[in-house]
Amino acid sequence: MPVASTPETPTLLERRRATLGSHSPLFYNTPLEIVSGKGVWLRSAEGKRYLDAYNNVPHVGHAHPAVANAVSQQMRKVALNTRYLNDRVVNYAEALLATLHPTLNRVSFGNSGSEANELAIRLARFKSRNTGLIMSDYSYHGTTLTLAQATTGLTTSEAMGENVRTIRIPDSTGLDNAATERLLASSLAEVDSVITSLQNAGFGVAAVLFDPLFSTEGLAKVPAGYVEGLVKRVREAGGLYIADEVQSGFGRVGRLMWGHELFDAVPDIVTMGKPMGNGHPLGATVMNAELLEAFGAENMFFNTFAGNPVSSAAGHAVLQVMTDEQLMPRAAANGALLRRELSGAVAGVAGVGEVRGDGLFAGMRFTDPETGEADPATAKRVVESMYRDGVLISRIGRNDEVLKIRPPLAFEAGDVEVLVTKLSRIIAAL
Ligand SMILES: Cc1ncc(COP(=O)(O)O)c(C=O)c1O
Repeated sequence: MPVASTPETPTLLERRRATLGSHSPLFYNTPLEIVSGKGVWLRSAEGKRYLDAYNNVPHVGHAHPAVANAVSQQMRKVALNTRYLNDRVVNYAEALLATLHPTLNRVSFGNSGSEANELAIRLARFKSRNTGLIMSDYSYHGTTLTLAQATTGLTTSEAMGENVRTIRIPDSTGLDNAATERLLASSLAEVDSVITSLQNAGFGVAAVLFDPLFSTEGLAKVPAGYVEGLVKRVREAGGLYIADEVQSGFGRVGRLMWGHELFDAVPDIVTMGKPMGNGHPLGATVMNAELLEAFGAENMFFNTFAGNPVSSAAGHAVLQVMTDEQLMPRAAANGALLRRELSGAVAGVAGVGEVRGDGLFAGMRFTDPETGEADPATAKRVVESMYRDGVLISRIGRNDEVLKIRPPLAFEAGDVEVLVTKLSRIIAAL
């Protein structure tokens, strides 16, 4: 049980603030203290159970025994820095690369999504000999200085880099064919203009970097041909296409292993993080052999912890569990069920938009029924009410007005029912 605060015994929250600072973010008005997890369920310090419909880090389920055993067995055997031969990392690299397009045949491991994206940008700058970056105007890709200067989806004190240009990711949700076509044309014209701007300023184009599910943007539904047109233009300007699979990867889409497979364009570089190690810090940057060889010839590049045998054991166990437990077909089926049930539950409710997303990732946008303006306050009330009711979800979108429902892949049909029943009740009571 959480202890009440007295001058002698400060609460955990007070001790956290006194050590990690008052701005280290926490979810919910009343922060949640978690003590344990199993599958898609979490237990709080007060002994209450929560259905986890938010977290993609415990990808194959909280405290999965196969991952825990793989990590602890390897930890008892040996934990090395990466500059020794060890079969664990090579076995894992082979298994991971086997899930990707044959041109994506080399991997550099890291410890986080931020590191993966930082290396990807470095590689793109190296290959293109340009420095210009094209980013979505509402996105987040990590904590490094380069990424802070290219962050548009949350606050950073760093100014936008002079070499960064932003594009508005088109969202055709709710539009008819003609309006979608117009949106496609104007969005690609915007791409042309930012490329010209980067070239005129002398930066050229090093890369475009985006999340293929456009999660931070609120699960934007891009018009058919947009991503292909964007990538074609970037490549014609000498730049590379970096797909950030930190949220969209590892079977999140259910029928596909990678979000970028939704489009007819194979990335030059793929970055990964969150779900890779089921909680063990692990990231990766994947590219082709020619790029890594050229980069390696001019850069003595290594990363002490990255791809160590313990991390590799965790990552490999995740891939194994995904196969053993058929998590991708389950995500496809349960994701379709989730979106179908959600759509039925909110059909006709004023101010609640069409259910969006793909695979086991769903969102719903709230707007003011009178003005049509984004309604983050209602989305927030729903998230807080769900929390009180024992279900964890969150918000995304440029105004934080879209519900974010992105459970571990181990989510079952029965869990969908629990979530939809509670959400319908809360929305009906709004
Ligand atoms: C799409 C995307 N890329 C990169 C990152 C950064 O990953 P990390 O926090 O592991 O550095 C995040 C984190 O939220 C993310 O959502």
